[in-house]
Amino acid sequence: MPRAAGGQDMTMSSMVADETALPARRHLNGAPVHVGVIMDGNGRWAARRGLPRIEGHRRGLEALRETVRAAIDFGLDYLTVYSFSMENWNRPVQEVADLMALLKRFIRNDLNELHKSGVKVKVIGARANLKADIRALLDEAEDKTKANSRLTLVVAFNYGSRQEIAAAARALAEEVTAGLIKASEIDEMLFARHLDTAGIPDPDLIIRTSGEQRLSNFLMWQAAYSEFVFLPMHWPDFDRQAFSAALAEFSGRDRRFGGVTGQYRNGKLLAGAAKT
Ligand code: FPP
Repeated sequence: MPRAAGGQDMTMSSMVADETALPARRHLNGAPVHVGVIMDGNGRWAARRGLPRIEGHRRGLEALRETVRAAIDFGLDYLTVYSFSMENWNRPVQEVADLMALLKRFIRNDLNELHKSGVKVKVIGARANLKADIRALLDEAEDKTKANSRLTLVVAFNYGSRQEIAAAARALAEEVTAGLIKASEIDEMLFARHLDTAGIPDPDLIIRTSGEQRLSNFLMWQAAYSEFVFLPMHWPDFDRQAFSAALAEFSGRDRRFGGVTGQYRNGKLLAGAAKT
């Protein structure tokens, strides 16, 4: 059966009037399918305790582990975590090295457990300027878990949304130049298929810890209709209870996708419903 960028069956299109919104299988009972997390505040958590920043990141990794386990228990399909942005290269050399080491530790120590739990790992972001050992670990994580389907853990590493969008535009321009597509064929669906997140539904909910209220170059295209929950706690303090409370807040939100209440099912405009 043909699949659209968001992974939905194309035959669903006969039931809906709008092809642009990506699917959300469990919206009917108020639970999100895809949650994105901006894991912010590790440094401040450490500073408050008089600890080095790396200690905040280590505790942040613990919180990430608990979050993945909770995401499985809560029945999410996708969890995307912002673990290293392209702008994070501007941090002190030692901190960058510490974050690279933490990623390696996470994959080396946790990959087997993730695999046994049915987690599929997908990494988004640029690979080319990463060291060969890191690239190999990311490839191994994706390859080993590619057949899993319980939860897709999307690790945004060396990721930047503007850079991702520019790369998609570049790839499309090259296809036009090569005569593979016409410029007039470029629409939202085709563009989305050229992003790192091709095939992944847009995040329903984005959670950011540490009290900051911004996207910081995270999933800017994909977050067009995401709900946001900003939490005052720093990332190392994020736990299952905080996650559950954020999901409860999400379930009380009225998502209209530019329409009016009751027009949408599974993130898509119902046939016959007028778009506003
Ligand atoms: C933001 O806090 C956090 C990061 C830049 C890194 C996030 C990393 C982890 C949660 C650990 C797991 C790591 C990997 C690579 C899997 P911040 O350092 O900006 O905190 P601050 O704003 O208080 O300084």
